[in-house]
Amino acid sequence: MDFEKKILCIGAGYVGGPTMAVIANKCPQYKVTIVDINPERIAQWNSDDLPIYEPGLAQVVKEARGRNLFFSTEIDKGIRESEIIFVSVNTPTKTFGAGAGMAADLQYWDKTARQIREHSTSDKIIVEKSTLPVRTAQAMERILTVDDNGIRFDVLSNPEFLAEGTAIKDLENPDRVLIGSRETRSGLKAREELVEIYANWIPRERIITSNIWSSELSKLVANAFLAQRISSINSVSAICEKTGADVTEVARAIGMDSRVGDRFLNASVGFGGSCFKKDILNLVYLCRNYDLEEVAKYWEGVVKINDYQKERFVLNMLNTMFNTLAGKKVCILGFAFKADTGDTRESPAIFIANRLAEENAELVITDPNALKNAIKDLDGIDGKVSFEEDPYKAADGCDAIAVMTEWDVYKGLDFERIYQSMTKPAFIFDGRNILDHQKLYHIGFNVFPIGKPALTHFEAE
Ligand code: NAD
Ligand code: UGA
Repeated sequence: MDFEKKILCIGAGYVGGPTMAVIANKCPQYKVTIVDINPERIAQWNSDDLPIYEPGLAQVVKEARGRNLFFSTEIDKGIRESEIIFVSVNTPTKTFGAGAGMAADLQYWDKTARQIREHSTSDKIIVEKSTLPVRTAQAMERILTVDDNGIRFDVLSNPEFLAEGTAIKDLENPDRVLIGSRETRSGLKAREELVEIYANWIPRERIITSNIWSSELSKLVANAFLAQRISSINSVSAICEKTGADVTEVARAIGMDSRVGDRFLNASVGFGGSCFKKDILNLVYLCRNYDLEEVAKYWEGVVKINDYQKERFVLNMLNTMFNTLAGKKVCILGFAFKADTGDTRESPAIFIANRLAEENAELVITDPNALKNAIKDLDGIDGKVSFEEDPYKAADGCDAIAVMTEWDVYKGLDFERIYQSMTKPAFIFDGRNILDHQKLYHIGFNVFPIGKPALTHFEAE
């Protein structure tokens, strides 16, 4: 079949896979190929056991795969064949050298740019899908054009705003799509070509365009703002616990102000995920690079409050369980960084598990979808840890439960049965405020929510 356009995506991860599957699904007239250096990942994308869990993803892949959606390891061939290349490789925080622990590690990005240059035999539009420091497009252009071989490369920025767990919904019906370009004739033409692709299913007024640096910066700032809201409400949760105010009531009161809005105001044990911390640190690094120390410190505070919140959670467990956790058994209820995903990258559960193990607690980890990743994350942890799919078995004989992920199934658990099977006094630390705290208290638990008065059966001093 003759396809109208040939699109390639380099990087078949949490972003590349779902994003391209939705483009293929919505635009059967385009051939969409996704390539990756990891052959196992590609094999999984070609199987019934996809490498990532995302509601609705399997159906979308099933409909398009083999028709106009292809997964392959043939990167060079893909580059030669395609007119538009999305680059969605990982850009983690650098772990070595200058900027270690702060700056984005651009080695995968750099390698991809060189590979595109080497194997291109015709003009291409290159689309930055990964989240990148501002002005990366310029570096990309410099690498691509070093040969002066007559091939034209237009680099666009098209950051992805999907959230895990709702990726398909977000891609099919996004709040907005952002496309940044150089404001030259050829840059604007390339931009229009990408607009046309999205316009196949997204209303034009939701496809916004900007200059390329604004687009790159908007992605970092969008994540920084979202994370800032969580750190703001989490900082308030600490005040609530000292004063008897209830953070849910405070969030409702401020969220009803339409200028503030009610989303992203759920106090929690802390935010996780592969991007919030990484992207804020990237922004902070960028500020320092431009000698904007006060701005850097401002955004760094968002990460600091998140670290503080996680540490506060552990210290609260330690203090309320009579200042020792040694030999006590704790059920970690949920390990994914949020519900509806198997992803555990930067999950607060990793930090909490490690800190509890340092206190010599014995851990039983349970999660409906993330146990495989949890086993990898806790490989080498110094302590007694076991993994159990069934939450009832996981809680059996435990002194405490720590809720780490807001999975819906946890709300419907039979806590009467769980209480009966636990060591007494039994504690619940609800790091997501998803359970019915009054009910748990009446069953007999000592209940410690986030940012709300604790409910305990111990006599006041
Ligand atoms: P990921 O680690 O899941 O996937 C990246 C993939 O790129 C991996 O499969 C890796 O093997 C592949 N890769 C690396 N170098 C390659 C190369 N030279 N050639 C071919 N393949 C290569 O990462 P992700 O979560 O999909 O994130 C990708 C980018 O998107 C990051 O910049 C991230 O910040 C951004 N982002 C992520 C999310 C999210 O929800 N995960 C959302 C928006 C933006
Ligand atoms: C986030 C953004 O929401 C996406 O727009 C962005 O594209 C993506 O990062 C990215 O760049 O990777 P994601 O991390 O998948 O998406 O999930 P979120 O729903 O944002 O949740 C992040 C963390 O914050 C989770 O640990 C979640 O439990 C926590 N959270 C969220 C709270 O603690 N409270 C809230 O009110 C909301």
